[in-house]
Amino acid sequence: MSINVNAKPDRNPSIILIFGASGDLTRRKLVPALYSLYEKGMLPAGVSIVGVSRTHYTDESFREELAKGVSEYTGGSDQDKWVQFSKSISYFVGDYSDMATYAEIKKRLEAASDAKGAANCVFYLATPPVLYEQVIENLGMTGLAKPGKGWRRVVVEKPFGNDLASAKALNDKVHQAFPEEQVYRIDHYLGKETVQNILAFRFANSIFEPLWNRSHVDHVQITVAEEIGVEHRGGYYDKAGVVRDMLQNHLLQLLALIAMDPPIRYTPKAVRDEKVKVLQAVRPIQSSECVLGQYAGYTDEPEVDPSSKTPTFVAAKLYVESWRWRGTPFYMRTGKRMPLKTTEITLQFKEVPLLLFSNEEVSPNRITIRIQPDEGINLRFEAKQPGAGMTTQPVDMSFKYSDISKKQLPDAYERLLLDALNGDPSLFTRSDEIELSWEIVEPLISAEHSFEVHQYNQGTWGPKESDEFIKRDGRKWLVQFPRR
Ligand code: BG6
Repeated sequence: MSINVNAKPDRNPSIILIFGASGDLTRRKLVPALYSLYEKGMLPAGVSIVGVSRTHYTDESFREELAKGVSEYTGGSDQDKWVQFSKSISYFVGDYSDMATYAEIKKRLEAASDAKGAANCVFYLATPPVLYEQVIENLGMTGLAKPGKGWRRVVVEKPFGNDLASAKALNDKVHQAFPEEQVYRIDHYLGKETVQNILAFRFANSIFEPLWNRSHVDHVQITVAEEIGVEHRGGYYDKAGVVRDMLQNHLLQLLALIAMDPPIRYTPKAVRDEKVKVLQAVRPIQSSECVLGQYAGYTDEPEVDPSSKTPTFVAAKLYVESWRWRGTPFYMRTGKRMPLKTTEITLQFKEVPLLLFSNEEVSPNRITIRIQPDEGINLRFEAKQPGAGMTTQPVDMSFKYSDISKKQLPDAYERLLLDALNGDPSLFTRSDEIELSWEIVEPLISAEHSFEVHQYNQGTWGPKESDEFIKRDGRKWLVQFPRR
């Protein structure tokens, strides 16, 4: 599914210049994704990868390091193909504050240009976020950000800012060097196949959209549960916490896709304009409308402050103040060390106005979109219990991605890297989206030290306060998708 029908692959040589190339992201995500694209014949011809960071590697030792990542994260690589592919990878040692680094980049771009025309460049910021401004400023100052005969694009990894003020400052800094059309802010959830399917499900069918509003939907739930804890990222996570790490970006993007109006056409601008309207309509989250939690044992994690109050779980109720959604609550929750990994979105419909049959109650209709794993869509409705009498029971109608394609779904980074190369920004977050989503979580962030953080046991669905929170509204949390 290509969202931007106008995006055309470029046949000129292109360099993906990765800053922070010795880091985990390059080894775990970027190069495995590029290799997978290459293996499938989807990587445009003439793409080469240049890594830069302060760690000492030669081209050879850098490739060896990446080969390990590729076999670990793509489930093994074909030796001959890897050898072919890895010829396009090179590395140099560079300090981001040193102009010699940028002179070297210029040299490499010129060298690549000699071959088949003017070289294009994607600058990929995979450094720690504190270095983003420095790198961007220097790319601007040295003229590297300016398109010449080849285009220039910059990909910025999350987190984009630490709060509203820093996100605005970073946007300003980015825009001094790169106009918005050249900027690609990553939210890897948008690269997930099933997240894109939200749009297909909603706007390629005519039967759901008439029901997709406050008149028929009782409430919406978005659950992003993870089994893992903070792993080896305690240092980063303890400063960020779940609100910055997950709610501000991934969950609000899911909300925007679920709540948006149909775009007038399928172009990056039209789609992102509609998402922006949703974010503009969301009331900033109030303290009375959320619960924060921290899993037991979190403070024993490496690099975590032993007295840390950083939340690893959040449940919140949001309202989208629009004609379509006014009064329909959106319950969102996400946390680490929960019983299972699942990302699912459920729309629960209003109850029937009158109970006709012998049941004491009927369960409400629900549409559940399962983002991961076991990607699919489920419709729950009532059917007659077989036999005498007239009693109903809930049944499920399920679609599973695995039924239409045995192939593993592509990793989000495959899609996003390809889109960045093809100049399609639809699945990247625009500057106004970023700032609006920081505005929504700002009350939680600005008062973070005064919030109560409830402890929850590992392997549970968060603190009991989260269940009480939704129960107060006469509802309960759902993990709806039928298990195999
Ligand atoms: C990242 C967060 O953005 O998303 C991590 O920083 C989190 O803390 C991860 O584990 C979850 O992504 P996925 O694709 O595994 O759901």
